[in-house]
Amino acid sequence: MDIIHVQGSGPLRGEIQIQGSKNAVLPILAAAVLIEGTCCLKNCPHISDVNCMCRLLESMGCSTYWDEDGLKVDTSTLKESRLPKELVTSMRSSIILLGPLLARCKEASLDYPGGCVIGDRPIDMHLHLLKEMGAVFTIQNEHIAGLAEQLTGTTIRLPFPSVGTTENGILASVMAKGRTTLLNCALEPEVQQLCRFLNAAGAKIEGVGTDCLRIEGVEKLYPVTYMIEADRIVAGTYIFSAVATMGRIGILNTPVKELDSVLEVVKQMGCRLSLEGKHLEVWQKERPKAVSLVQTQVYPGFPTDLQSVLMTTLSVSDGESQIEENIFSNRFKIAGELVRMGAEIRIEGRRARIKGKEKLYAMSLLAEDLRGGAALVLAGICAQGNSLIGNCHYIERGYEDICRDYRFLGAAVEKIVRS
Ligand code: EPU
Repeated sequence: MDIIHVQGSGPLRGEIQIQGSKNAVLPILAAAVLIEGTCCLKNCPHISDVNCMCRLLESMGCSTYWDEDGLKVDTSTLKESRLPKELVTSMRSSIILLGPLLARCKEASLDYPGGCVIGDRPIDMHLHLLKEMGAVFTIQNEHIAGLAEQLTGTTIRLPFPSVGTTENGILASVMAKGRTTLLNCALEPEVQQLCRFLNAAGAKIEGVGTDCLRIEGVEKLYPVTYMIEADRIVAGTYIFSAVATMGRIGILNTPVKELDSVLEVVKQMGCRLSLEGKHLEVWQKERPKAVSLVQTQVYPGFPTDLQSVLMTTLSVSDGESQIEENIFSNRFKIAGELVRMGAEIRIEGRRARIKGKEKLYAMSLLAEDLRGGAALVLAGICAQGNSLIGNCHYIERGYEDICRDYRFLGAAVEKIVRS
């Protein structure tokens, strides 16, 4: 098992460039299934979830390769609509292949998706939406066999603005017969990027950036070159890291607009921010102040994907704070590890009460999910002594090289490869 060695260090200092967004590129790779020919994705992050999606595409007969421009995906040789179990069950995003496969192959066969265990992650909304559009499913032992002779546009209101369901709905609609209206859609920037990619490829999606998408089905989509935008969650991770360590860092390509709710919280913690173009300077002079309550919400609210690094940051803040997790049912898993490091955290249902401590103590820790893993690396940086973080493959699902990034910012963080 590979581990990350972290030496507790002082304030982070330095400048950093943020990788392309994981949650934008994964549905865009799924969208490539709808486009015969070769698409090029620039600024695509080199992360294991992208590798896994590429292997899924290859299992269908597509080819994927990297060159100096980015990731190329050629789906002209796609022939297989059955997805291999070991790949599907290793990533939640495999479910967003369901819509495109039904649209292109008229059938799909896959197991229930896996992914980070951060609470119940059912796929009922995905299946309901696709059924409304004419798909028929047979489900046995968590295996889904889908058929859709002709996906047909209709009006569907999502019961909750789920990111993945909105994406599957868009992907199923862009080449469906007639007009689809999706109501109560997710507003997350990654959904907007998917729409921009598809519109560049010839799709007709109106209402991008609103909760009502009107999609006119088209006959054909055409290959495009598309630039993946910077990852707001990775940027947020380093912003909180500067705050937690009382550091001063520059982020060269900040997706500032997408981080409004996050910047509001760090300002409450006493952080100074200055922005020039996309260059954001983050400066925390004193110990971060506690915040009374931060609630995770769908976009534009505070993102659940930054809740863990927020928890680490509040563990070393001055005073008592509360976090409320409203998106996933089991996303406070790092609390136990932080408590072992000396943090004072009490979980009461959806709420975590955190009393900040001046010091955390180094420990051997185990990552249990992607964002929690990154938050434990930060905890190690804030702690006194040397920490080890096991299960670091979780972190590699979404961070290109968290050790490299923290080293740029002056911390001693290193991956130890064990054979
Ligand atoms: N939900 C259902 N039924 C469904 C679909 C979702 O009940 O059919 C529930 C989920 O169980 C959850 C809530 O709805 O409680 C929100 O789930 P959503 O569908 O919005 O999330 P997702 O599409 O599975 C994406 C990101 C997550 C991010 C969430 C919320 C990708 C690949 N994943 O997941 O990212 O936390 O949206 O913003 O885009 C991560 O990057 O670490 C990560 C987990």
